[in-house]
Amino acid sequence: MSSSPIVPGSNLTPLALVKHLENKVLVGGQLIIPASKKTFPVHNPATMEVIGQAAHAQKEDVDSAVEVARKAQREWRHMDASSRGRLITQCAELLDQYQDELARLITLETGKALRTESQVEAKVFANTFRFYGGIALEMKGETIPFSDSMLSITIREPLGVVGAIIPWNVPLLLMSLKVAPALVAGNTVVVKSAEEAPFAVLRAAEIMNTILPPGVLNILSGDGPITGEALVKHPSISKVTFTGSVETGKLIYKNSSEKLIPVTLELGGKSPMIVCEDVDVEKAIKGAMASMRFTRQGQSCTAASRIFVHELIFDHFLEGLKAKLNELKMGDPMDPTTDIGAVISPEQHLKILNYIEMGKKEPGATAHICSDLPKDSKLSKGLFVQPVIFTGLPNSHQVNQEEIFGPVTALIPWRDFDQVIEQANDSTYGLAATLWTNNLTRALKGVHQLEAGFVQVNQNIVVQPGLSYGGVKSSGLGKEASLESMLEHFTHKKTIIFNMD
Ligand code: NAI
Ligand code: MG
Repeated sequence: MSSSPIVPGSNLTPLALVKHLENKVLVGGQLIIPASKKTFPVHNPATMEVIGQAAHAQKEDVDSAVEVARKAQREWRHMDASSRGRLITQCAELLDQYQDELARLITLETGKALRTESQVEAKVFANTFRFYGGIALEMKGETIPFSDSMLSITIREPLGVVGAIIPWNVPLLLMSLKVAPALVAGNTVVVKSAEEAPFAVLRAAEIMNTILPPGVLNILSGDGPITGEALVKHPSISKVTFTGSVETGKLIYKNSSEKLIPVTLELGGKSPMIVCEDVDVEKAIKGAMASMRFTRQGQSCTAASRIFVHELIFDHFLEGLKAKLNELKMGDPMDPTTDIGAVISPEQHLKILNYIEMGKKEPGATAHICSDLPKDSKLSKGLFVQPVIFTGLPNSHQVNQEEIFGPVTALIPWRDFDQVIEQANDSTYGLAATLWTNNLTRALKGVHQLEAGFVQVNQNIVVQPGLSYGGVKSSGLGKEASLESMLEHFTHKKTIIFNMD
């Protein structure tokens, strides 16, 4: 077995690791304090204690990171694709060894429960690099027949330096969906992490930089208006890939359009789940638990936040879902017995509580509040929210139309299948949808008529490396996670004709 590269700071506790990463960005293969020396505090959402200071990259810091990435791209793009793929695969193998460490860091800065969320994320993170490392040779082009003396072909070329802007809900996974295909295709990358969760991403990149050539993968932390905008507007950024809110997505689209560069936008959702009366209700309840991402406090763009349940099984479904939610333990996210952790920030906490209050005020609506808040005094300032199931709120209500990004879902009864499909589609979003039925006619009709980028019948799995993922309508532009998305969004086709007549 080949020996692994030496990764600095191994075997440190999550807090000691934060000390190692504090005030730094990763540029040119090194953790450095950026020239501007500006910083901002990062909190543990479960306690609201400051865990450390992150570097707040300013325009001049963005300029130097992009310049380093631009220079590194000259060599990286000419490395043969299989060698790039091999390096990315080696990153995956090394990241496997750091899953536990990365999971603890994710939990410390996001408040997500270690067992139910962060450990899973750290694993899928490494797997995304493994998937893309293995398909590097698929950067193929086409040939067009002309005559014996001519050859007409297309080849795939990288775009240049990619700016990747990511949010905090699944920071490592979302980083990998952008960085892995961009690098395999021969681009270099400057990532801007989310204000709330800068450290796990920085640490993961530090580990990968023991394998990658310097300057190929660079990480900046900072806010949206200063750091994010400087990255998007930088003249040497040839492509922007973003996951986050619709509002920010639109601004990024606008700023990118000034430079006529391509963008990929993975935005929000208000995903419907339709449950027919012919299903095993217990199985569908388990499906709702997974689809709504209750163990991630509902902080998912695909969260099943509108659950349409056939009226014949409505009461059964409601009681079953409440019972399952009440079994979940909310508490210290690092404790392996905890199922539900804290939400990310005071802003998100307030936003979620406001939506809950808004729903409660609606005449005829009931808020079924589930699970107990943690009693541990060290968590007394933590941003915990009890999961809520609303009944009696119509699909048209604001709570059922806007993305809450919290543990709040609504059960809406239905009788007519055509009408429920119409209601499910009555949303500005179109990211994901799930349909529960054993009736083949309904299943086929549903998958064809639901307006969503990702439709599943009788199951709910998360993003899978290999399967294209991305929304329609206000949920975004472009796809991620597949071979096709890498070719479409991180390369361009060059057409070449030889005439040797
Ligand atoms: P956001 O979209 O404002 O932030 C996401 C990322 O974009 C962060 O890295 C942020 O610094 C950056 N950003 C913000 N403004 C920017 C700008 N002008 N130029 C370039 N980059 C910019 O999302 P935020 O404020 O964290 O959450 C607000 C809402 O967005 C949430 O309540 C939720 O509804 C939605 N959201 C959706 C996510 C998804 O997975 N689709 C992830 C996170 C949030
Ligand atoms: Mg924002």
